[in-house]
Amino acid sequence: MSKLRLEGKVAIITGAASGIGEAAARLFAETGALVVIADIQDELGHQVVASIGPHKCCYRHCDVRDEKQVQETVDYTLEKYGSLDILFSNAGIIGPLGGILDLDMGEFDNTMAVNMRGAVIAIKHAGRAMVARKIRGSIICTASVTGCVAGAGPHAYTISKHALVGLIRTASCEFGKHGIRVNCISPSPLVTPMVASADVSMSEMEAMCCAASNLKGTVLRPHHVAEAVLFLALDESSFISGHNLTIDGGFTVVNPSLGFYK
Ligand SMILES: NC(=O)c1ccc[n+]([C@@H]2O[C@H](COP(=O)([O-])OP(=O)(O)OC[C@H]3O[C@@H](n4cnc5c(N)ncnc54)[C@H](O)[C@@H]3O)[C@@H](O)[C@H]2O)c1
Repeated sequence: MSKLRLEGKVAIITGAASGIGEAAARLFAETGALVVIADIQDELGHQVVASIGPHKCCYRHCDVRDEKQVQETVDYTLEKYGSLDILFSNAGIIGPLGGILDLDMGEFDNTMAVNMRGAVIAIKHAGRAMVARKIRGSIICTASVTGCVAGAGPHAYTISKHALVGLIRTASCEFGKHGIRVNCISPSPLVTPMVASADVSMSEMEAMCCAASNLKGTVLRPHHVAEAVLFLALDESSFISGHNLTIDGGFTVVNPSLGFYK
């Protein structure tokens, strides 16, 4: 790569201590951005900063359920780096796994608070900073294929991810007049700590993801997702807003149940 393509840009990435967010933080920093890694896993977050390099990024404890912490993270970013050009709102949890008949409403509320309400808060405060400073920024949320089709994840998770697709559409409607783009990405299942389980090994989990995949021969990894996020952050996507970019090898548009082209 001859030119660092996010040179001079400042990004906040929520949920960046691990998985997709961590991969995006690495890629953004490699391509020249200054990155605020916002998460609740403090030790991991500091480790990510140490491995990327503290001159390119910093860690900030930020629970996206808490509006004050999100607002303070935005203020901290503006104070430390002088701008906010990119928000990658990515923090998420899998939530309760059982059926609706047995759904624990406290767990449901918590899933919505992290996955959906947390993204609303992040967009609100990052959006305020961008509008006030006339920054034609890029906001990207991590949705999921579960925001497109049912049956690919648990109920609360699926509901929260459908809501995220609505969120980026309605936010793009308001922010268009400011030149701020709002999009989301929807990956199909991939192995990260979020899907790790005591009962299934990482390699078994990867085999399950590959078996469910329409596109064979490539295993979806966090860096593939990060590349798509980078595209939406860059000026190369300058007329794309309100879009849900699936990163799913065709998973959401192919229904294999009739067995054509086996
Ligand atoms: N792994 C998959 O199969 C998959 C597929 C589609 C979408 N996603 C989405 O990707 C995003 C990242 O997940 P991942 O797979 O990288 O998992 P991950 O567990 O590695 O990363 C999620 C991060 O979010 C952080 N987080 C959780 N609650 C938080 C809170 N309240 N405030 C701030 N940070 C919080 C966690 O500490 C963690 O670092 C999530 O939104 C997830 O729903 C994952």
